Amino acid sequence: MEAAADSSAVARGRLAVLAAHLTASLELSPTPNLELSQVSASSAVAPPGNLKGVLTVLDERTGRRYQLQVSEYGTVKAADFKKITTGKNDKGLKLYDPGYLNTAPVRSSICYIDGDEGILRYRGYPIEELAERSSFLEVAYLLLYGNLPSESQLSDWEFTVSQHSAVPQGILDVIQAMPHDAHPMGVLVSAMSALSVFHPDANPALRGQDLYNSKQVRDKQIARILGKAPTIAAAAYLRMAGRPPVLPSNNLSYSENFLYMLDSLGNRSYTPNPRLARVIDILFILHAEHEMNCSTAAARHLASSGVDVYTALSGAVGALYGPLHGGANEAVLKMLNDIGTVDNIPDFIEGVKNRKRKMSGFGHRVYKNYDPRAKVIRKLAEEVFSIVGHDPLIEVAVALEKAALSDDYFVKRKLYPNVDFYSGLIYRAMGFPTEFFPVLFAIPRMAGYLAHWKESLDDPDTKIMRPQQVYTGVWLRHYSPVTERLAADTGENHAQVSVSNATKRRLAGTGA
Ligand SMILES: CC(C)(COP(=O)(O)OP(=O)(O)OC[C@H]1O[C@@H](n2cnc3c(N)ncnc32)[C@H](O)[C@@H]1OP(=O)(O)O)[C@@H](O)C(=O)NCCC(=O)NCCS
Repeated sequence: MEAAADSSAVARGRLAVLAAHLTASLELSPTPNLELSQVSASSAVAPPGNLKGVLTVLDERTGRRYQLQVSEYGTVKAADFKKITTGKNDKGLKLYDPGYLNTAPVRSSICYIDGDEGILRYRGYPIEELAERSSFLEVAYLLLYGNLPSESQLSDWEFTVSQHSAVPQGILDVIQAMPHDAHPMGVLVSAMSALSVFHPDANPALRGQDLYNSKQVRDKQIARILGKAPTIAAAAYLRMAGRPPVLPSNNLSYSENFLYMLDSLGNRSYTPNPRLARVIDILFILHAEHEMNCSTAAARHLASSGVDVYTALSGAVGALYGPLHGGANEAVLKMLNDIGTVDNIPDFIEGVKNRKRKMSGFGHRVYKNYDPRAKVIRKLAEEVFSIVGHDPLIEVAVALEKAALSDDYFVKRKLYPNVDFYSGLIYRAMGFPTEFFPVLFAIPRMAGYLAHWKESLDDPDTKIMRPQQVYTGVWLRHYSPVTERLAADTGENHAQVSVSNATKRRLAGTGA
């Protein structure tokens, strides 16, 4: 208990230092009094210990008993259930798990989440400590190579990544060829997948399946992807603004270079505001990894087929594009706008409780406690406002959070702010359009995807991912010629595909 109290005090102290660091050089409005909340680093949760044992299952259909081995991690092998069968035509018990609610297709040592306690750790380091003291590239190194780098390893790593920040002209041409209103996530997906074509040297389909056994080859792709992601994202951003892409600068930090590409208009002497660059860096740290979420699972799934890493990551970014994954912060902004002022909060909360609507940015599949990332982001908002001006919606957000956290409906269901509750406000204050928000998520998440890709290459248990299904269709029938089929037998018809007047005009001609 004493150790827990100590570490709690240390962690609170660290957050205070972070808050002080962030506000130290402010000459603008005083920071609003946001209470320093407990951090996940302080929660004393002991490792689970050895859970190894035997599970005895009695199949009441047959009266047979089975013994299944439970691993030290408290897992059973799903394949062991196959031996539980009723007989001849039964191929054994399967686990039906839509949405993978309780299925672990991999083992991983990269990231740990305890949703009940609000804990997030990368390679054992609490996210709050990393957000406060580390840099994004240092965290990327940690995720990828397992430990924080030494001084010389870090400078070598930063140099290597920066050396891979330029993208081939062909990729910029692909970006330029997109429609004027292309969604930047669509642009990012396409550019990532196009990188595969531009790097045939890294393609197992061309160079052989054992290509990634080479550490040099792997690490080169890692540096390339981390180096190029901000450059592609910046080109997508500039394209939205109708501006030409800007070449990266190798003299700046990772986040400074990103802001430089967005804002320099090609002026090589331009330097972004270092405090805003630090905010971006912290946001990158917070979004770098989150274990087997939808897009990381997609990256592992694609990579398991042996496809090149660019195609695998392009698929992952595709999953992140979905509004259920990367786009909730946009919904939060819309909700806060609809509420408008603090006075309207009680009515809004009543509406949520009467199930007229959900409260965006609240609740999480894993976190049944305050999302530790949301705490850090809430403090960052003040830093951003002090530079670019106050966003009145922050008052609505803070008051809404307070009202919800003291309301039985939310308390009972363990609904707390998630990472998206405050991040949209920061992004908007920094001048990013809403459709660019998921891109700001995707850039740092490349580090997480790559760490999982690398880990999967080294894991002897890795197999091509090929889940089972539960077949519920017609058991057997035989083909009948089209003239003998009854309309009633054909079932569902395809929808009428609408025909435009331009098509009607064309069809009215001859030879179509
Ligand atoms: C994230 C989310 C999909 C998690 O869903 P889940 O783990 O499947 O949880 P459930 O949908 O089963 O919710 C459990 C209960 O809490 C309620 N609930 C969950 N999130 C809620 C929210 N944001 N507002 C109001 N009620 C909510 C559900 O209605 C349900 O209540 P009930 O048991 O009385 O029916 C859900 O919390 C949500 O939709 N949040 C808002 C969207 C969001 O912020 N997404 C970003 C996530 S990072």
